[in-house]
Amino acid sequence: MGLNKTTRRRFLQGTGLAAAGVALRGAGGLLGQTASKGVDAHIDIVPGEPIGTIAPEIYSHFIEHLGGVIYDGVWVGEGSKIANVNGIRKAFIDTMKAVQAPVLRWPGGCFADSYDWHDGIGPGAKRPQRTGFWSQEDTNKYGTHEFMQTCKAIGCEPYLAANVRSLPPKDFYQWMEYCNAPAGTGNALADLRAANGDKEPFNVQYWGVGNESWGCGGNQTPEEYAGEYRRFTAYLPQYEGGKPLHLVVCGPNGDDVHWTSELGKALHGNHPWGLSTHYYTSGDAKKFAEGDALKFTDAEHYDLLARGAHMERIITDHWGALEETDPTHKTRLVIDEWGAWYGKGTQLNAHYNLSQQSTMRDALLSGITFDIFQKHADKMAMANVAQSINCIHSLMLAQEDKFTVTPVFHVFQMYMPHRGGTAVRAEFSAETIVNTLATVSPVGGNSAVGSIAPDQRLAGLSGSASISASNPKTMTLTVVNPHLDRVMTAEIAIAGASIAGVSGTVLAEADIHAHNDFAHPDAVKPRAAAMGTPVAGRLTHSFPAASVTSLQLRLA
Ligand code: AHR
Repeated sequence: MGLNKTTRRRFLQGTGLAAAGVALRGAGGLLGQTASKGVDAHIDIVPGEPIGTIAPEIYSHFIEHLGGVIYDGVWVGEGSKIANVNGIRKAFIDTMKAVQAPVLRWPGGCFADSYDWHDGIGPGAKRPQRTGFWSQEDTNKYGTHEFMQTCKAIGCEPYLAANVRSLPPKDFYQWMEYCNAPAGTGNALADLRAANGDKEPFNVQYWGVGNESWGCGGNQTPEEYAGEYRRFTAYLPQYEGGKPLHLVVCGPNGDDVHWTSELGKALHGNHPWGLSTHYYTSGDAKKFAEGDALKFTDAEHYDLLARGAHMERIITDHWGALEETDPTHKTRLVIDEWGAWYGKGTQLNAHYNLSQQSTMRDALLSGITFDIFQKHADKMAMANVAQSINCIHSLMLAQEDKFTVTPVFHVFQMYMPHRGGTAVRAEFSAETIVNTLATVSPVGGNSAVGSIAPDQRLAGLSGSASISASNPKTMTLTVVNPHLDRVMTAEIAIAGASIAGVSGTVLAEADIHAHNDFAHPDAVKPRAAAMGTPVAGRLTHSFPAASVTSLQLRLA
């Protein structure tokens, strides 16, 4: 089976091979396999064509003062009967450790541009209660110190989003001073931090300058926001021995290339470390943030995955737009909000805004998304799932003493071996799936701006491959089979190497609607994949219907 024309064209464009005149073979895949009986697809991996190092930070996280994310999800309070570490839910910490969360973003989201960090420091009982962005009361019991303790307990780096809409630059650089100034030098904010319990600086390196400044962050034009960015970052405190600052500028809504292009020009030669880019996949083909997380048809399943796969164009379009003013790519992409966003109906609690269930469909979307990030490892600095617990595309659900992980958690874990490895070209040749809902125009609202047209087809098998940083003879191959009723048997070949051994895990359930809940926390979980034996250095593997698979290949 050969590549379809569009896939072939996009792949060649993405790698520059089209210009170099490299021809892919027709039938049988890139490495020239003959079409064998019972084989539906070919996966051809070319270790000699590295894409880039996979930043572990693309597996990062995000929590916001919203619904049941912070209060109940993360923070249960020191006196709680729920197992906790200094008030932080222990199960949250343990789960984030289990996926070795690299970075955690906080306090928003839209909440960040209404948040005054001064409210969240000092004795808990004296902190003021405020009405936060989501019209929700915030007791401020969870503030900067509690967030830093959360990161420390997990072993991850903090990523703070600063308020640009409703506070002046002084509050930004003083929050930085409060977090990063060394104690014992007479610095008043470092002394205040020490008096509040933390003598050692927090050493925060990741700072977002506002959030969604085209929307909740101030309804600004790219030119207006660029002026704010320049003003907010004209001076920032840095300390000897501290970590270098990584500034993240507010990027586009979905595929709004105009924003990125105009922002680049108006930054006048400023090249931040990262461009914050948000892309959500709506649960409904016509309306943003609608659709049912649990009840969906086969056609809706395929359509959601097809719209999720738009992530690839989000990456390549904005990378191209950045290039206009940053030809050497000093700025890389920080996709600090992504996931499937459904409407009401499956929330844990009536008061938990944006709380939703996650099924196997969301596991498949996670795999497709990570594989896209890895195919563009050279462009991706970080990505943060929205949001880690009790929210949109969550790894965990918690309510009081009840807790479960979701299928999304398992995909995070299954993709861990990729981290820090070198992503290499992996070519998938399989018949595509027709998306019957693709006639509907792109969804309105958040993430819809830009040029994305409905995708008529979804890849029949997709994935990514990487070579381990510690052992060049170990390769990780992750694969998503989106077919609801078709096992896909693929022949896997590696250019210039033989497959000598293989092991792996698979996440697959008979029903795509399968999910975990408090009564059935293990209803969905991965198992060891049934393996064949490599023959003549190639492996034939059957990927179950509606599955995510992670294979470890031993090369010879
Ligand atoms: O993640 C929920 C919200 O989605 C965030 O607060 C905002 O940045 C985005 O619109």
